[in-house]
Amino acid sequence: MLLFTLAITLLSGFAVAQFPLIGKHRTARCPAVNRATDETKAIDIHYVEVNPRAKDTLIFVHGWPGIWSIWKHQINEFKNDYRVVVVDVRGMGASGHPGDVEGSSSTGDFVDDLVCVLKHAEVAGKSVCIGHDWGSSICWEAGRARPDIFSGVISLAVPYLASAGPYTPIEAFLKTFPRLTYQVYFRDTIDNAAAELEADVRRTIRIVYKHSNTTAPDTFLTSSTSFLTPYDGIELSRSPLMTQEEEDYLVDQFTKSGFKNSLQFYQHRNRYLSWQIAHDNGTFNVNVPSLAIYPNKDSVADWNVVSEIAKSKSFVPQLEEVSVPTAHCPHMERPKEINAYLGDWLTRTFPSSRGTFEKAEGEL
Ligand SMILES: *[C@@H]1O[C@H](CO)[C@@H](O)[C@H](O)[C@H]1NC(C)=O
Ligand SMILES: *[C@@H]1O[C@H](CO)[C@@H](O)[C@H](O)[C@H]1NC(C)=O
Repeated sequence: MLLFTLAITLLSGFAVAQFPLIGKHRTARCPAVNRATDETKAIDIHYVEVNPRAKDTLIFVHGWPGIWSIWKHQINEFKNDYRVVVVDVRGMGASGHPGDVEGSSSTGDFVDDLVCVLKHAEVAGKSVCIGHDWGSSICWEAGRARPDIFSGVISLAVPYLASAGPYTPIEAFLKTFPRLTYQVYFRDTIDNAAAELEADVRRTIRIVYKHSNTTAPDTFLTSSTSFLTPYDGIELSRSPLMTQEEEDYLVDQFTKSGFKNSLQFYQHRNRYLSWQIAHDNGTFNVNVPSLAIYPNKDSVADWNVVSEIAKSKSFVPQLEEVSVPTAHCPHMERPKEINAYLGDWLTRTFPSSRGTFEKAEGEL
């Protein structure tokens, strides 16, 4: 029996090869408020850490529906020159959630989790926050509210949306961006949406992780009552953005966590609170150096246009913007090109960071 178990372990070890075995899996216990019950709890925030002896840190933050592993190409690219910290945000992957999906996940809460993780990892030097999709919003808020900890922001897909003006509900964007209508569905019928996404997790993942070569049905993302029905009757193969092992891992992680907590990003109370924290603060600018990479073949929206409408540049004085011909996940679709943008910007912006290591105590 023992031998049998050992054989299985070895075999499955081979099956996943280098993935998802990159780095060290760690867990920080972080305080989190459940705003429905007004209780403060401790939740587990899972993160992967590579090269803890590097001086400066890159902290990677996924969006929806992601987990740490979507950053595989960037982890491999930067793991020798930086300390790389990659989180599962609260409610997703192996991270916990305080409950109250509607009101306990403002961007401020997510930033607190990042700060908690960096403290747990005993990060002392500079940290650059690198986010994708909702992870972008988290990193923008990190740069705005905690420039003492986050010395730079890199955003993939979503531009900085300042909270200087009044709160804008999602409805206000639908005329210009009708493919944001799915967000109304995710907001108004959480349990239905979670059940629909969970019915066949692999199919959900295949639909969401699109390459710019694959065309979506015309009605995709435009319904406030269903996410997946535009794909009814359409056979789907694995997304070209990932290997079979990566797909299996994502499916496994979302099967374990479910989708309900992941819908936190779309909830009115969370969005309102995110806006309110920044609005009441009165500092609307992100004053740290920033790089934004906008895909221009994303079915959700052309993020270059969103940046212009939101006047992102006027709120981020040190912003560089790049447009890339990819769908929603540039870091997965064109990893070499995106890694080159990231590496070049990091080297120019923080010239002394790359490849600088602190020696362990007692080491020559
Ligand atoms: C308010 O803005 C200042 C300046 O950026 C920042 O130091 C502080 O942490 C912010 N507080 C909140 C709650 O956003
Ligand atoms: C996508 O299309 C381009 C040209 O249209 C082609 O060169 C490329 O190989 C395609 N990629 C995939 C993954 O299908």
